[in-house]
Amino acid sequence: EKDILILAIESSCDETAAAVVKNGREVLSNIISSQIELHKLYGGVVPEIASRKHIEKINQVIEEALRSAQVTLDDVDAVGVTYGPGLVGALLVGVAEAKAISYARNLPLVGVHHIEGHISANYIENRDLEPPFPCLVVSGGHTHLVIVEDYGKYRILGRTRDDAAGEAFDKVARAIGLGYPGGPKIDKLAKEGNADAIPFPRAHVADAPYDFSFSGLKSAVLNYLNGCRMRGETVSQADVAASFQKAVVEVLTEHAMMAVKEYGFDKLAIAGGVASNSALRESMRQACEQNHIRFYYPSPILCTDNAAMIGAAAYYEYINGTRSGLDLNAVPNLKL
Ligand code: KG4
Ligand code: ZN
Repeated sequence: EKDILILAIESSCDETAAAVVKNGREVLSNIISSQIELHKLYGGVVPEIASRKHIEKINQVIEEALRSAQVTLDDVDAVGVTYGPGLVGALLVGVAEAKAISYARNLPLVGVHHIEGHISANYIENRDLEPPFPCLVVSGGHTHLVIVEDYGKYRILGRTRDDAAGEAFDKVARAIGLGYPGGPKIDKLAKEGNADAIPFPRAHVADAPYDFSFSGLKSAVLNYLNGCRMRGETVSQADVAASFQKAVVEVLTEHAMMAVKEYGFDKLAIAGGVASNSALRESMRQACEQNHIRFYYPSPILCTDNAAMIGAAAYYEYINGTRSGLDLNAVPNLKL
């Protein structure tokens, strides 16, 4: 059978990314231009700046993706692009670019859901992974526990009621003075702290066992820091980081294992930026080992935003017959 090459584009937040993916699972190139240094100055992503930077970078990122895959647009079978959810102005840059290439080259266009992309990152390095399987998606904007019933078919078991897991990491990092983005910094600092030093709450949502809530935990950390300041006590940043991280990781692990058991799966996947957290990976690895569950997780570079994952998702949409028209638009609150 003929190989299918997808040129994939991702610009939903603060990474301008393009990739060439063969048959959904083989990454020929994966180019990411991060804007982190720019947004750091403001302590978070500034949407207008993100859009402008995407416009500046997108053509060269795509050219580099084609060049390093050693292909041209003549070799490409379809263009995949994230069209939601995300920042509307940021999404629009990728969507307009993908439509322009599709129109100029008469190539099929496939709009991809960003979360479907995160989940599909697991297919890239795990050739044996096929639906159905449960997947915990934890990123800066999303915390979803889903069952991947088939390619492109998802059943949501639970989601966050307030902050996303990554958002909690970023806010707590800011409160203890670590700067943006906080997740990787907490991960690193927590290794030097005592995770049992401070008993932060593990939140559960009444009547919705698979839902998450992280805003109470965030408030508990802020209250703890204020209390210490008022009493004139010195705060161990590392203990706060480690104790906070443990509270998040325990809840995430517990929910995921509950789903695996209730639905009788023998495998589990994780995805999204927070899936690169070393404590979460270790906790999940241990829980899966104890319960004889196969554990799947992408490499850190495929956990955070990238276009290779969009190429993987676009491939399965493409072979299932999904085609977007030139009226494809950015949908900032797109549902899975
Ligand atoms: O998936 P992603 O790149 O973007 C979204 O779709 O949101 O996720 C970014 C989030 C940020 O909140 C960042 O702090 C978090 O993932 N993150 C981490 C780690 N690396 C990235 N959180 C905890 N530990 C990490 N090692
Ligand atoms: Zn993402």
